[in-house]
Amino acid sequence: MEIKGAVALITGAGSGIGRATAQRLSRDGASVAVNDIDEQSARETVRLIERGGGRATPIPADVANDGDVRRMIFGARERFGRLDIVVNNAGVVEAGDTQRVVFPELAPERWMRTLDINVRGVLLGTQHAVDAMREQGGGVIINISSMAGIGTGSHPAPVYAASKAAVVRFSAALAPLARRMNIRVNCICPDWVDTPMVHRTRSEMSPEEWQAMAPAVMTQPEEIAEAVVRIINDDSLAGRVMLCVGPKPWPLAEPSKRTS
Ligand SMILES: NC(=O)c1ccc[n+]([C@@H]2O[C@H](COP(=O)([O-])OP(=O)(O)OC[C@H]3O[C@@H](n4cnc5c(N)ncnc54)[C@H](O)[C@@H]3O)[C@@H](O)[C@H]2O)c1
Repeated sequence: MEIKGAVALITGAGSGIGRATAQRLSRDGASVAVNDIDEQSARETVRLIERGGGRATPIPADVANDGDVRRMIFGARERFGRLDIVVNNAGVVEAGDTQRVVFPELAPERWMRTLDINVRGVLLGTQHAVDAMREQGGGVIINISSMAGIGTGSHPAPVYAASKAAVVRFSAALAPLARRMNIRVNCICPDWVDTPMVHRTRSEMSPEEWQAMAPAVMTQPEEIAEAVVRIINDDSLAGRVMLCVGPKPWPLAEPSKRTS
């Protein structure tokens, strides 16, 4: 797909990976609908894009809310006339007062909010985007998961890890939409990325704790934006999961055989 002239919607684009992706797609010639639950930060991303000569509109919405997501998709189409690319990026780590309070100490309404944003938000964003895209003959949906959602090891934020695993399986399971509707759904799994989310996590750790889990090299949000562009540009990719570890180009996991 050509990014130049396309219309893209990025959720959680008021910060970090979402903002970098919105700016990159704009630089590559897309008109960008900038979603965030925090209206001010969405407006700031729009300001940055417009300052660079791009076209963008803020769409404040909570991705966990069905009505909000419908309005978000409608708003993007109304503003720019169509919708070609959706990046379901909004996500949170365990939503306690502090990231040190996680499952099982975290109260159910707190971890449910994490699931609502990270899983329900991606499923709603995908479903309503599919409705819009099938009418116009196709599109590309990219869901932002995490390396936390890959594998069978332990993780310090269990609900976050479970939510991201759900995003991986959901995205891969939708591979057949490419054939049925010309809609390619894919997934990106970043490792540590230098964003406010990671800065918050780090601020709650001692230097020793951070040292023990810090990556040798921190990925920059612009590198994830580059991965988004790679997936958009490659029409052969559907139901694929990009693992953002090791040297680039980052590998795409081989689709496994269907199991029960
Ligand atoms: N930073 C990392 O190391 C890392 C690693 C792997 C995966 N990820 C994933 O990348 C995505 C972006 O993370 P980031 O690091 O840029 O985080 P960030 O905290 O910098 O940005 C996330 C944005 O999402 C918005 N948001 C939160 N809840 C929302 C909601 N309900 N509706 C709409 N917007 C909402 C926030 O206001 C914020 O602007 C997340 O899904 C995250 O899980 C990040």
